[in-house]
Amino acid sequence: MNLTPAELIDLDRKSFFHPFSSLAIHEQMGAEIFVQGNDSTLVDSHGKEYLDGIAGLWCVNIGYGNSEMASAIAEQAKKLAFYQALTSFGTDIAAIYSARLLKMSPVPMSKVFFGSSGSDANDTNIKMVWYYHNILGKPEKKKIISRRHGYHGSTIFAAGLTGFNNLHNNFDLPLVRTIHTSATHPLWDNKANDSEIDFGLKLVADLEQLIISEGPETIAAFIAEPIMAGGGVLVPPAGYFAALQEVLEKYEILLIADEVVTGFGRTAKMFGSESFELKPDFITLAKGITSGYIPLSASLVSEKVWKVLAEGSKAAGAFGHGYTYSGHPVAMKAAMVNLDIIEQQDLLQNVGDKGIKLKALLENEFLDSPFVGDVRGYGLLAAVEFVKSKSPLVPFSLTLKVAQRIARAAFKNGLIVRPLAESNTLAFSPTFVVTDDELSRMVNIFAASVKQVFEELQKSGDLKT
Ligand SMILES: Cc1ncc(COP(=O)(O)O)c(C=O)c1O
Repeated sequence: MNLTPAELIDLDRKSFFHPFSSLAIHEQMGAEIFVQGNDSTLVDSHGKEYLDGIAGLWCVNIGYGNSEMASAIAEQAKKLAFYQALTSFGTDIAAIYSARLLKMSPVPMSKVFFGSSGSDANDTNIKMVWYYHNILGKPEKKKIISRRHGYHGSTIFAAGLTGFNNLHNNFDLPLVRTIHTSATHPLWDNKANDSEIDFGLKLVADLEQLIISEGPETIAAFIAEPIMAGGGVLVPPAGYFAALQEVLEKYEILLIADEVVTGFGRTAKMFGSESFELKPDFITLAKGITSGYIPLSASLVSEKVWKVLAEGSKAAGAFGHGYTYSGHPVAMKAAMVNLDIIEQQDLLQNVGDKGIKLKALLENEFLDSPFVGDVRGYGLLAAVEFVKSKSPLVPFSLTLKVAQRIARAAFKNGLIVRPLAESNTLAFSPTFVVTDDELSRMVNIFAASVKQVFEELQKSGDLKT
């Protein structure tokens, strides 16, 4: 069916319910529709090219149009497209990939449970946490602590853990058993302007107070992204995770590292847990696990947890959780080839090199601006946060939609960057195959787009404090 761009947009508007989109605006404006991708470049239905500064959604790590990946997927689909993993059935590729993944885990892990999205993997982890404490005879240990502005997904429990109002309001979320603590935002959570170390220690002291006031015997687990991605690209303060893990250990609280964004190389190490010395009981993986070529998620489960679950199953019977597509053979093959490509092309080295370059370009362009509160980054993750005034520190009102307007202007100029929710921050998370030239072009287009929007804000009087 050969449709014109206008016909495609109309078809989409009439039929496709877009996630995280403003429904009424979408009905008027329609979608931006892409039809092709190659390395870090996307092509829309009009044939216009865009540099993708965010790798799809922090996920197309090996770049678009990788023919080795496409052939491997086709090959597996022909050989064995599907077989289920329930009731002790399995496939060769799922067994081989599971063993490979566990071998490279940042901390010794015992087993891997597969799903199809980061959200379902986090729900899986929470169910395992509850099951674990029940089997240990501690049924009161059920509450999960997450951080404000953390993103953990949009399924019913994961959405509650996610620290954004938009995922809660009108959905009657969070459900019970969810507690939020502070994020590690260098501007907004460090009101006293403490040194980095003191800031991190203060946050951990606040967390300990929260645990004590809730009752440590009721707290089951703490979930955190090594670098908070959607919540602002927040790199943890030095010493924060070390002190935090001591507190968790003291109160027998399990740690879930949500590595949906940081897993598979984004921090220039294979896992963010390596970069920040986390020793989690569970690791959540998705996105980069297949570079977005096929939906897949994974929950890595520690030996400590596995032993309890396995022992408990003698009395409890079959583990009552799973998905039709757990360990889907085509996804397993894609995950396998994804690792091959990362290793063969030495992409972690590229992440390190290009990450340094991207941060330097952004700092060079924006650090001196009176309207930039912070430029931050780590590995191939970076963000620029805009403020109305630096001293005193005043945020732009979210109603001005500064980040969305900059993203919109950049899009018109041929660059995709991500405006972050409930924030005046834009994020970059390019593919691992991005080149120096592409990074320079990205930052140039971004700077020109920022200039355009600030000229508008100047004209409308919105820059006055
Ligand atoms: C850290 C983190 N966890 C979980 C998720 C949810 O993943 P999915 O959208 O695949 O359900 C995301 C998605 O952006 C994420 O960034």
